Amino acid sequence: MNILLLGSGGREHALAWKITQSEKIDKLYIAPGNAGTSELGENVNLNLSDFSKIKKFAIEKNVELVVVGPEQPLVDGIADYFLEDKSLKNISVIGPVKAGAILEGSKDFAKEFMSKYNIPTASYKSFSKASINEGKAFLEEVSSPYVLKADGLAAGKGVLILEDLEEAKKSLEEMLQGQFGKASDTVVIEEFLSGIELSVFVLTDGKSYKILPEAKDYKRIGEADTGLNTGGMGAVSPVPFADKGFMDKVEERVIKPTIEGLINENIDYKGFVFFGLIKVGEDPFVIEYNVRMGDPETEVVVPRIKSDIVDLFLHVKNETLEKAKIEFNPEACATVMMVSGGYPGNYEKGKKIEIPEINDSLVFHAGTKYDSSDIVTNGGRVIAVSSYGKDIFEALKKSYQNVDSIQFDGKYYRSDIGFDLK
Ligand code: AMP
Ligand code: GLY
Repeated sequence: MNILLLGSGGREHALAWKITQSEKIDKLYIAPGNAGTSELGENVNLNLSDFSKIKKFAIEKNVELVVVGPEQPLVDGIADYFLEDKSLKNISVIGPVKAGAILEGSKDFAKEFMSKYNIPTASYKSFSKASINEGKAFLEEVSSPYVLKADGLAAGKGVLILEDLEEAKKSLEEMLQGQFGKASDTVVIEEFLSGIELSVFVLTDGKSYKILPEAKDYKRIGEADTGLNTGGMGAVSPVPFADKGFMDKVEERVIKPTIEGLINENIDYKGFVFFGLIKVGEDPFVIEYNVRMGDPETEVVVPRIKSDIVDLFLHVKNETLEKAKIEFNPEACATVMMVSGGYPGNYEKGKKIEIPEINDSLVFHAGTKYDSSDIVTNGGRVIAVSSYGKDIFEALKKSYQNVDSIQFDGKYYRSDIGFDLK
């Protein structure tokens, strides 16, 4: 079967790596892909917001499955577009319809959904320009630190955590005045939760689900979790503090009611659900939903899946996931993200990358491309080096050895991934 994978990051390289191990795959197309994915299939230059071009390409190339990496096309309704078009009835999309993608596309919707289905999350209220004064009064009632979230997609930058009340009021004003464009027309103000974060993933066919290995991601640019937020600087799986007792609570209190809620709302959800969780004491709370896999979490989760991922996708398509067997690799996996100097602020692209032959790690490309026969940097996050180990620390050691051997001008990485888990 031919598959079209949408996206261009480390997540997509890891998915492409796994998809091409399936016996069921004939040809993999990746749009737009990166230098790494071009070694596994054919990169195609499609604009992910141009659904009619994607449709034309999929029909022309006999694509049967479209796997959507990033959230934007899902929030824009790519799954609906394929479902509604009769000429596309033989092509299935792995990724939820718009009514499901809004779990990530609107924090206000996600909060309402959680409150309706009794899913533990921070208490909150939402405000718009018309209710700005109520918003400021609410900030006076709650205590510091203040958590302000743009309702819509804001490229991971829409959450502000402020200590000072006056600063929080000023930020609320700025957000409602369009600091994040339309994404902050509504602002969610919520209770600050103190704990340790982790990411839990499920694959669902809209009826049942399979829980994938959990992961912990390191979002800040600086060592010891300091400095600006990034897309993610490294990840580990498994997460030592996510023991069986805790994961049972996650399933009972978070995963089950979410899937049941989706069914109850008649939302046709076929794809990944990413639960951004925080462990407060011994209890899980949902910080956010994402409707896709995480990046760089995919670079540690997917290597730990033993089963054929295309098989699992077909079970999702046919709504037979309940019957599917899913096996995991008991080894740990860790990834270290190499980024361009200056990221997440301004950085230069086009730096030549030297990659020696590496046999004991998986080198997943993110922002890379071919410039004639050279591989050059093409984004902030450049390469994720993933390794297996008997535990995450052994895996990290291998990743760091190989990170040392990959060179490009301005290369930066955090040398303390996993520091808080020792
Ligand atoms: P989000 O974009 O919703 O994942 O938020 C970005 C980051 O802000 C999270 O990864 C947390 O570190 C932090 N955060 C979000 N909501 C809260 C909260 N209610 N309490 C404490 N930290 C939070
Ligand atoms: N690594 C966090 C995310 O993918 O949203």
